[in-house]
Amino acid sequence: MPLSNKNSLAARLQAMADEGRSSARTLSHQLAPADYGQLSQQLAALIIGEKDRVANLANCAALLWQGMPAINWVGFYLLKRNTLVLGPFQGKPACTRIEVGRGVCGLAAQMLKAVIVGNVHEFPGHIACDISSKSEIVLPLILDGRLIGLLDIDSPEVDRFDHVDQQGLEGIIQILIAQI
Ligand code: SME
Repeated sequence: MPLSNKNSLAARLQAMADEGRSSARTLSHQLAPADYGQLSQQLAALIIGEKDRVANLANCAALLWQGMPAINWVGFYLLKRNTLVLGPFQGKPACTRIEVGRGVCGLAAQMLKAVIVGNVHEFPGHIACDISSKSEIVLPLILDGRLIGLLDIDSPEVDRFDHVDQQGLEGIIQILIAQI
């Protein structure tokens, strides 16, 4: 890669890191909601020209980790022979395999729809990977009409996610899907 391209990628990554730091993760998300428009632009810039699935999922997880306040886990599960297998993520180590139909992830995979759980302690069958998780959103990744995996995000706050997050994250997934 020519030096000028390298420099511009470095500048973009630095700008994103600075923006992530200023997003004040410790503030309540009501005070500093995720800016999905900005995150979508950043994701598009990050993955343009790259077709490697793992690389793009990893950068997407890192971007959401930096840009979404009040979350304690974000990552992907990829469907392999009817089992959801842990993919790129940020946060504490998590369970590696989830059967379709089990837990919040398994439900989203079964229904092929986003699932928002306001209080995971009231969700029968919730699979606890981090004891501090209180709410969760899971969205399917559908490529050419087939489920290929899930985006899963946990929060230490009850009722952290709503339809605005769902719409914003569905937009993020559309950008991602076109590049994997
Ligand atoms: N809580 C999920 C399991 C995955 S972790 O949250 C990373 C579930 O119930 O499916």
